[in-house]
Amino acid sequence: MAGGSSTKLALLGGPPVRGKAWPQWPARGAEEERALIAALRDGDWGGFPLPNERSATFAAAFAERHDCKHALCVANGTVSLEVALQAMGVEPGAEVIVPAYTFEATASAALFAGCVPVFADIDPDTWCIEVEAAASLVTERTKAIVPVHLAMTVADLDAIGELAARHGLAVLEDCAHAHGARWRGRGVGSWGDAGSFSFQTSKLMTAGEGGIVTTSDETILDRLQALVNCGRQRPGVAEPAADIGHNYRMTDLQAAILEVQLGRLDRQHEIRAANARRLRATIEDIDGLTNLRIDDRVTTQAIYQFVFRFDSEAFAGLDRDTFVAALAAEGVPADGRFYESLPVSELLRPDPARYPAWSEALARRPAADCPNAERLAYRESVWLPHQLLLGTESNVDDIVEAVLKVQRAAADLAGLETAEVERLRRARSAR
Ligand SMILES: Cc1ncc(COP(=O)(O)O)c(C=O)c1O
Repeated sequence: MAGGSSTKLALLGGPPVRGKAWPQWPARGAEEERALIAALRDGDWGGFPLPNERSATFAAAFAERHDCKHALCVANGTVSLEVALQAMGVEPGAEVIVPAYTFEATASAALFAGCVPVFADIDPDTWCIEVEAAASLVTERTKAIVPVHLAMTVADLDAIGELAARHGLAVLEDCAHAHGARWRGRGVGSWGDAGSFSFQTSKLMTAGEGGIVTTSDETILDRLQALVNCGRQRPGVAEPAADIGHNYRMTDLQAAILEVQLGRLDRQHEIRAANARRLRATIEDIDGLTNLRIDDRVTTQAIYQFVFRFDSEAFAGLDRDTFVAALAAEGVPADGRFYESLPVSELLRPDPARYPAWSEALARRPAADCPNAERLAYRESVWLPHQLLLGTESNVDDIVEAVLKVQRAAADLAGLETAEVERLRRARSAR
């Protein structure tokens, strides 16, 4: 372990705990090369006619892996949310409850569908939507709820199902982080009316970009096909679609890679899970760090990011962002402000002229406070990318050693201005 015995923090010029590379992501090998070359050579690259052969085969396998009857490949995990809402019959102007702590796309997709995202606070222990908070936001305008299976867990699908049944809400699971996860033994994406997944580069399966919608409902599937394929009905349906559509098709080059990635998923889950167990056990013993609570009903965990909570008091008053910068300087890529709290996010400032339903809704009822989301986003959350867990146990030991080193020397950084931390961070990464 490089620099393991030095106490001088790498951010202040000391040697880092870890100098060597982490497992590469995307993981790739001869199988991806073979699949891609085969697709390249046959010249049938596009997504048209929809679904093209490779994307149809991949979608069938993906649906089966998630206990759904159908899946349809699309361009990315943002448009998948947008068309899923539309295909579920959620009309423009409807209120859609989303968690306040997630990627902006969960809310912006609702806006793109002409709907109004309404933010529910999250459970500070699981970081997923707090179902009681969601229940308190339901009005006669509410038509759907979009739970996000965040980071390394699954939202409480039983409680969400009950809430939805009570109020007649459609459920769209945002599974962008949760490929292959299971709740009570059944795949995510099969509990709601539809599920949406992303294949963007950082995700657990990737073709660089891409997305997929899962559903077991034929009507939703038919509407989806028209919405992503310029309004064309699926083959065999004579009458025209009820609405125009986009071109949101995925290419067959992407599908070729994704077929291989699906085959790798279970083994990768096992490796990450074993390393995550080791990391969680150590975190239990580190003063000031708190593991995410993983519900017993999460029977297969998908670990997109390993996350934990940070308490600055146990780190000589160091703020979370300085802690993360110090950790990164020790060679452990970590992030703090991975997500913002959406009600105050800089990336989510819709133009009132373009999103009138949203502005009218805000005039009727301002967004509720989401203190749990804010605390996590700006003070407490620490995110580690999943590939750090794709190697050996010694990688986990490096993460722990780096955390402990920063904790022991935290006083050396406490009180530094943000600008000074930024200067040190830049100086370190320029080396
Ligand atoms: C929770 C969540 N929802 C939706 C998306 C959107 O997916 P994409 O980047 O493929 O559009 C992401 C991806 O970053 C995400 O993390």
